[in-house]
Amino acid sequence: MSKRTIFLTTALPYANGNFHMGHIVEYIQADIWVRHQRMGDNTVHFVGADDAHGAPIMISAQKLGISPEAFVKKISEGRKQYLDGFYIKFDHWHSTDSKENTELSCEIYHRLKDAGLIYTKDIEQFYDPEKKMFLADRFIKGKCPKCGAEDQYGDSCEVCGAVYAPTELIEPYSALSGAKPELRKSTHYFFKLSDPKCVEFLRDWTKGVAADGSLRLQPQIIAKTEEWLGKDGDLSDWDISRDAPYFGIEIPDAPGKYFYVWLDAPIGYLASLKAYCELKGINFQALLETSTTEQIHIIGKDIAYFHTLFWPAMLQFSGKPFKTPDHVWCHGFLTVYNRKMSKSRGTGLDPIAYLNLGMDPEWLRYYLAYKLNSKVEDIDFNPEDFIQRANTDLVGKYVNIASRSAGFILKRFDGKVDADAITDSDLVSDVKSFSNAIRDFYEAREYNKAMRKVMELADKVNEYVDSQKPWELAKSEENRAKLHAVCSIVLEAFRLLTLYLKPVLPRTASQVEDFLGCCDLNWETVQNSLNAETHIKPFKHLMTRATPDQLTQLFELSNPANKAKAEEKAKEAVSDENKDEFVFEPLQPNITFDDFAKLDLRVAKIVNCTKVEKSKKLLQLTVDVGEGKTRNIFSGIANFYKPEDLIGKLTVIVANLEPRKMMGQFSEGMLLSASDGSEKTSGLYLLNPDCGAKPGMRLH
Ligand code: MSP
Ligand code: ZN
Repeated sequence: MSKRTIFLTTALPYANGNFHMGHIVEYIQADIWVRHQRMGDNTVHFVGADDAHGAPIMISAQKLGISPEAFVKKISEGRKQYLDGFYIKFDHWHSTDSKENTELSCEIYHRLKDAGLIYTKDIEQFYDPEKKMFLADRFIKGKCPKCGAEDQYGDSCEVCGAVYAPTELIEPYSALSGAKPELRKSTHYFFKLSDPKCVEFLRDWTKGVAADGSLRLQPQIIAKTEEWLGKDGDLSDWDISRDAPYFGIEIPDAPGKYFYVWLDAPIGYLASLKAYCELKGINFQALLETSTTEQIHIIGKDIAYFHTLFWPAMLQFSGKPFKTPDHVWCHGFLTVYNRKMSKSRGTGLDPIAYLNLGMDPEWLRYYLAYKLNSKVEDIDFNPEDFIQRANTDLVGKYVNIASRSAGFILKRFDGKVDADAITDSDLVSDVKSFSNAIRDFYEAREYNKAMRKVMELADKVNEYVDSQKPWELAKSEENRAKLHAVCSIVLEAFRLLTLYLKPVLPRTASQVEDFLGCCDLNWETVQNSLNAETHIKPFKHLMTRATPDQLTQLFELSNPANKAKAEEKAKEAVSDENKDEFVFEPLQPNITFDDFAKLDLRVAKIVNCTKVEKSKKLLQLTVDVGEGKTRNIFSGIANFYKPEDLIGKLTVIVANLEPRKMMGQFSEGMLLSASDGSEKTSGLYLLNPDCGAKPGMRLH
């Protein structure tokens, strides 16, 4: 089978806030699919970006008294910790407020204009006379025209569910200034979605089959698009312009008019790809024009209209190199206890709180995989179920298999497996025989089916262990061969299960690859086995258990009322990180002040530093301690510092230590550094005096 090239995106999040758990859910499901593709040696360009434009972002920035650019920049700088934290590996992260997006948006606009699909029309809209701007629907409030509920938004009523135009609101007012809005006329630009050629194209495209032989859209979404397209194809045209002041891309040749954020947002997919291509030296144009390149968008169900009608029509009538999406895959929403997530009701789940509590990102990845399918169904987060899945499935069933076999292989058989036993094992063939089925489940985004199958297989392996009782076999030397065979078979089964879980558990899989010495678990190497060459290494625990207390704390910290506590946790998490591997040395017995006064510690300037030939550990330093001459010092810091990085720095030395002959020369003093006595793992750190200290100053 020829290898695929896939351009994959997830929806571009509004840059008006940090990620919430809904975003993470979307990215994890995309990331799992990407990792699965790469395990089949397919090329995936997985890109994302911030959706930077629009009135809400402009207004949020205004409230803070900063520019929208500065506002968006701050949000975008916060993205990395979430993505890294949950092992979500985008190839590139960009912004719709970028040179690439401006260029592409203008180009696509010109092409659509040339295709006769753009026209202008005067419309009447609410205008805020105090803020001097036209008001988007969500910035107009008033009484619901249907039920009379107060303070409802301009597009729909949260009390009775009615949908209406902002002009129908009773006693409307501006949510920005409170002023009574005026109706004013303005010229707007429209995309002619109602054009028969658009409608005809969309009727066809929405029902179509992609190059991979599967439906372009999910059946539920096809049904939706049929509804939207209607019998007579009476689609409304799309208002694509907004008047200044607006944070967005100015429409070419139309001063004071900007593209509505939803026009340039999906073009941001292409902008991100383009920027990525430039970084990687890939030809963007050629990549899109290659007929086998697949373009796939993963999005939430709420934005299907934009992605299945506007977006393909825009691309279709822009022509080459642009191409229509091969797939638009919609997912449902994350709910908590079957209700919409709400911070104030305490059912929000803050991804950063999750990480700061030290909760394992792989628990969440697995939990989601366990629940996700290819349909447009909501995914409910249930804390009890979450704990159950993490502890029963991952730790109890899967990780346990390694604990039950690897220890014996390491201790009794010098890390070597019985290759023949593996080759002859029915259990191994059985586990192996499901590789195609599991791979197909991933391919079809039926992750829940893949997870269920893997856990079924894990059950079988555990049953085998229970029946063979390696701990009994280990009691007598007579059963040595049998013990070896059983543990080897179980360990090979563990290798296969790890391979099957690799798209979901990338960190664990990489640890397992390391200790099994097979760094290439993928859909081809399913057919390999642990063998005579295998030499397994000792390994650290692979995964801990989730506790109900962690979940309680997660809900607590996700509630904005407990912001202070959440910040405290964040600080602890940072210091925990630094605490990694640190061993506290016991304190020395007390000394008198006179003892201390004998020690002469001085600020020293490193004027030169070189490597010492014939020594891996030592650096040779020339330091100035203000004596009118320099000193020569040897220090065992070569594994931690490069000579060129030290020259010119201030540090601290013991200045009255008896000189000592080393490498044929005297070392006239000792550099001070911090370590926990096991610097191999925790490092070694020189001291820096604060700004203003001069060479020769004594430490008192
Ligand atoms: N900026 C637009 C998308 C532009 S794409 C060219 C937008 N942004 S968003 O931040 O509101 O949403 C980003 C994605 O997160 C969307 O796919 C949306 O459906 C998804 N989700 C938002 N809340 C969600 C849940 N509670 N659960 C799952 N996904 C959710 O829309
Ligand atoms: Zn109402």
